Parts: sequence; C-alpha cells; structure tokens
Amino acid sequence: MSRLKKIFVFLLFGCIFLSCKEVKDPTEKQIDDLLAKMTLEEKIGQMNQLNGTGITSDMEDAIRNGEVGSILNEVDVKTINKLQKIAVEESRLGIPIIFARDVIHGYKTIFPIPLGQAATWNPILVEKGAQVAAQEASSSGIRWTFAPMIDVCRDPRWGRIAESLGEDTYLASVMGVAMVKGFQGDDLSSPSAIAACAKHFAGYGASEAGKDYNTTWIPELQLREVFLPPFQAVSEAGVATFMCSFNDINGIPASGSQFLNRTILRDEWKYDGMLVSDWGSIEQMISHGFCTDLSDAAQKAISAGVDMDMEGYAYIKHLEELVRNGTIKESIIDDAVKNILRLKIRLGLFESPYTDESVAYDFYRESSLQAAKEAAIESVILLKNEREILPLDDNIKTITVVGPLSDAPADQLGTWCFDGESEYAVTPLAALRKYYGNRVKILFEYGLEYSREYNDEGIKKAVAKACQSDVILFFAGEEAILSGEARSRADISLPGQQTEMLKELKKTGKPIVMIVMAGRPLTIEKEVALSDAVLYAFHPGTMAGPALADLLFGKAVPSGKLPVTIPKMVGQVPIYYSHKNTGRPASDITMIDDIEPGVKQTSLGFTSYHLDAGDSPLFPFGYGLSYTTFKYGRTELSSKTIGVNDELVITCEIKNVGKYAASEIVQLYIRDMVGSLIRPVKELKRFGKVTIEPNQSKKITFHLPVSDLAFWHNDKEKKIEPGEFMLWIAPNSQSGEGVSFNLK
Ligand code: GLC
Repeated sequence: MSRLKKIFVFLLFGCIFLSCKEVKDPTEKQIDDLLAKMTLEEKIGQMNQLNGTGITSDMEDAIRNGEVGSILNEVDVKTINKLQKIAVEESRLGIPIIFARDVIHGYKTIFPIPLGQAATWNPILVEKGAQVAAQEASSSGIRWTFAPMIDVCRDPRWGRIAESLGEDTYLASVMGVAMVKGFQGDDLSSPSAIAACAKHFAGYGASEAGKDYNTTWIPELQLREVFLPPFQAVSEAGVATFMCSFNDINGIPASGSQFLNRTILRDEWKYDGMLVSDWGSIEQMISHGFCTDLSDAAQKAISAGVDMDMEGYAYIKHLEELVRNGTIKESIIDDAVKNILRLKIRLGLFESPYTDESVAYDFYRESSLQAAKEAAIESVILLKNEREILPLDDNIKTITVVGPLSDAPADQLGTWCFDGESEYAVTPLAALRKYYGNRVKILFEYGLEYSREYNDEGIKKAVAKACQSDVILFFAGEEAILSGEARSRADISLPGQQTEMLKELKKTGKPIVMIVMAGRPLTIEKEVALSDAVLYAFHPGTMAGPALADLLFGKAVPSGKLPVTIPKMVGQVPIYYSHKNTGRPASDITMIDDIEPGVKQTSLGFTSYHLDAGDSPLFPFGYGLSYTTFKYGRTELSSKTIGVNDELVITCEIKNVGKYAASEIVQLYIRDMVGSLIRPVKELKRFGKVTIEPNQSKKITFHLPVSDLAFWHNDKEKKIEPGEFMLWIAPNSQSGEGVSFNLK
C-alpha cells in the first residue's frame, strides 16, 4: 500500500474513532440535555419523595410546580394516572413521577415472608415470586418497590428479621439477587418490571439488643465480611436503587455516611443507580444528635450522596438556600438528579408514563396462587417427626384442629403485607376441610383466638374436642403484628397461653403435631418436647393452608431448611453457625442442674458455654428433616492439594433410603483452619437442591474456585492465605463428615 494510502486509511480510522468517542450513551445524553433545561428548584423537586395522599389540591400544586420526583403508597391506578398526567402535561418540563410501594413478599398474592422464602433455599422459586409481585404491582402503576431487604441478621429479637433473608451472608446474597432479577426482569423498561431497592444500607441487622432503629457498632472488617457482600452482589446484579438505613453505624447515621454512600457504594462499587433515604431518615439525623437542624441534615445528607429524600422535607425546604448561599455546589445537586433521571429513563417512564387501565389485571390468578403455594410448601421446615407420625396416613380417621393460627387469615400473611387481602388467604382449617374433609373427620376449636390471648375457657373446649380425635394439629405462633418494623421482642417464646394450652392437650395422650407460624425463630424447646412432630413456617402467605394441608397428608414432602438459627433461649442470642472457635471451645459441658451443691470454683470445666443452655442451639442453621432419609456418601475432592489459581471440584453421592420421593438441600461449608485473622468454624460457600426417588442416588457436584476462600484483611484487601482447610458436604451446618485439603 502506497504511503499516501496509508495516511488516508489512518486518518479515516482516526475520524471514525473520534466520532464514536463523541457519541454519548443516549441515556446520558438525554439526562444532560434535560438537566441543562432545569431550574435549581426543578432539580430539587426531583429529589423530593412524598407519601401519597390521593388527589388533593396541595399534591396537584406541588406536582404542577415540579416539586415532586416520586410518590410512595399511592396504589389506585386511576389516581396514579391522574397525578402522572399533571406531571407530564402541566409541569414545565413534563418529567414523569415514579410511583413506589413496599412490595416485600407479594403485592396481592402474598408469598411467604422473606425469611420463609430464604428457607426454601430455592432462588428460582424466589425469583418467580418477585416476578409475580412485579406483574401485579405494575398493573396498579407501581414501578418501584422497596425490596429486597438484605440485612444479614443474627438476632431473632429484632422484628425485621422477618423481612430478612436470614443470618448467612452467602444465602442472603444469592436470594437477594434472585429477588432483584424477579422484580426487574431482563428489561427494566418493560411495563411489568419494577425497580428493586437494596435495603437497608447498611448494618441495620446488627441493631443493638435487637431493638429496632438502635445503634450499631460494626468493625469495618465485619462490615465488609458479613453485612456488605449481599449489597455488593445485588449492585453487580444491576439493582436499580439503594435505600439508606435508619441506624447510626460507628457513630454516624447511615443517611449521613460518606463512607457508606460514597466510598463504598460509588467509589469502590462504581454504582450508578439511585440512593433514596429511608422514611424521614435525613430529618432523624437531628434526633441522632448528628445534625443541628433540618438545614444541617439536608447539607450532610446531600454531601453524603443521598439522592432522594423520602418524606423528610429536608431537601425541598433547604437545598435551594444551601446552594444560593454557597454552602453546597449545584454540581452535587446535579449528580443526584442525574441518578434520578437515569432511573426514570431506564424504567421507560418518559416514553410510557401511564398505566394501561383498559385491562383490569386479574390479581390472584391461578398461576400466581400456585406459585405462592409452591413457595409456601418449600418454605416449611420439618423439625421433628417422632415415630414418623407424619405424613398422616389412612389410620387417621378424626383430626382436631386447634390453636390461634389455625384459622387466622390476616396473620398467616405476615408483616409488610400492605395490599394482600386476607379474604383471599386460605387458612389451614379451610384447606383441610376443603381438600381432606372427605378423607377424615375434622373437629375444630381455637382454644385461643389469637396468639397473645389468655382464655382458659377456650382451652378446655379445645381439649374436650381433642379427646375425640386420633391426632391433634396445634397451629401455634405469632400474630403478624408481633414482627416487622418496630416490632422487636425481648422474650421470643410463644406468646400468651399457648404453652399452657399445649400442656393441657398433652394430657389427652393423643399424638400432637405442632405447626408454628411466626415472623422469627421462637424459643420453643419445651413445646417441641411436648410435641410428637413439629413443622415450622415463617408466615407462609396467602396459600399457607393448602401448603400445610398437603404437607400434613404427604401430598408434598417437607424440604425447607432453617435460614436462621433457632436458640434454646433468648439469652444465647446472638447465636449463629459461622461463629469463631475461641481459645476455649465448649467441652466437658456441665449443665447447671448437674452441679453438685457446694462444689468449689475449680470443679467445673472452663470452656465457652452457658451453664443453663450449653453451647448449641435448639436447631442449627441449615437444619430441616424430610419424610424420607438421605444418606450422604463420601465427599470426594478433585485434589487434596491446590494452588491459588485452581478450582476445587467436590462431589458427593446422596441416596434416598426412605420411601418418599423428596428434595434435599445439600450444603457446602468450609473452614480455614488457621489465618492471620481467625476464621469462622464454618462458612457456607455453595448449596443446591436435588430431588431423588426412593432407593435412587444422585451425585452432586460443586465447583469452588480458590478465590472464594479469600477473606478481608485490615488493609481493605480480600486475600487468600495458604494452609489447611476443612470442607463439608452436609444436610445442615452441624452435620457431615469433613474432609481436609491443603492450599499451597
Ligand atoms: C419504612 C421502612 C422501609 C420502607 C419505608 C417505606 O420505615 O424502614 O423499609 O421501605 O419506610 O415504607
């Protein structure tokens, strides 16, 4: 090629390169063009989220004046379209509003509370549930939900453990990502997709004493190792928004934390989504003692990178003055508004701001109810089954249904159920009558009409009925109001007279199946001892009844496993499986009642346990039985010695040696035996669910890259350290035969 030609080709490619370089991402160009037209007031208006009040002149005026970026808790589709029409057609720039709602575990069709969904260990099922919720909510005009709540929590006193995905970082990460995928789908601009929200950022689950909104002290290493990974996982999965948490963390309220909201979220994770405060959490920084007044709160929140103010009125009242007097730069406002506009563009709100009202969406459609039933079935954990009393067989001719949760449609829906209607909830009593009433005679007596009730008369009537039956089904637990936000309990035993009722039922000599429906783990050691079989369900939702009925009669087989430890007593809290070993791990345990009176100080072992509780929980993380029995073969490793760039392939054959086809959640744990920072005695690294026919076997294979063995160090780096590791393929966090391998 001649020299001239070479120059020509070079110039040609150079021009192409330059022209490509100048063409911005169309979304970013749309944002910049719109931002350039906006007044400071209009920018601040986008940062203002108000609670829905229907169609009032104040709300209409605020929208018309461009003072509202988002409205939460408005769910009437006609109202939403009317308000949207004012924004799009009557405000100066016609920027659409984003309508939001807490769609936490279903909109109309209610799925198990998130803690129950975590108990399924089935991300595909959880994604499906979120997709159903998105379809139902978006049909009402809701395009943004404040879920998933991915606060790792190890304290069942905290009411919001109900909304969480449990105590484990890895399980919460996997299930949180599944929810985001379900809510957002593959195309956020689809009318049936809704923006998800990673909350509460961050460390809320560590609220001291399990008391809601309480202070948290979390060393950065623990923050990075335990609480942040689920948020990073959903950030990488494309979650559209984040929400600040209410708590102060190490002395700084999350809504004012530059470390959380800028250093971690923006600088380290390169997150470009939108960050909303929690309800009034900016204004509450005054009460925290972090801000002098609302103006100071606005300044500290925007400086920390909080883009939108939920019902706090800090931004709408003070940001303009703060810019005018030079306290903050307008550029910091622009950054927030860009994040808000980007969300609205990604949702397709500029092209399609309105919701189609022509087709009334069929909430509770059969496919949705079926999905909710499957989720409920897989969420239930079999904790005990003496003499294989379950499933109920043909020898059972009469059953007595008793207890406060036996026919409590609103309570079985659980907390954070704003729009699910209890009229559609099918209770255990209703389901047993409908689906099994032709097979067995069903007697019913509440005994106690709600979980906190004290009523001896009712108990006597229940006992009288129980004497006439072959088996007692005792539906115990908590009303929905006893868990959720601001619903922490210092005593997490069965409320009211339920234990007394169970003792009276026990005197009948009849077999007792206790089915617990609650928003948290409960200290039920005594009640488990009084029962022949125990099923545990974290408020299973609309289809709780049909799910439990099928499980009781064996049409379905329990497969749920605990996503959170169940303590013997609340004094053990915090108690969780991935604890450290300590210098004196529990051994030679002498329980308090075994101590001879008058013994000397040196007569007992000096190791780490409680005299009155020992060292183990009532039921460990990952625990759950089946109607069948699974036998685990030897765990085989691809190599006993691996290098830092290797991948370990782990296999194990599992055999169903019982008589029921069933699913087993197989868990992979590791332990790093020695580290420059001591490591937990177990860490969940993989899990999988296999369904195996009776007398059949299945080989399960896990792939574990060595990079997954890295852990955080004080220099803010994740590093791998060579040495010996143990590995378990197990049915729960306390079982299994460990195998060792060595990392060079
Ligand atoms: C509440 C909760 C938060 C919820 C928000 C909107 O106070 O903390 O999880 O999304 O306000 O209802």
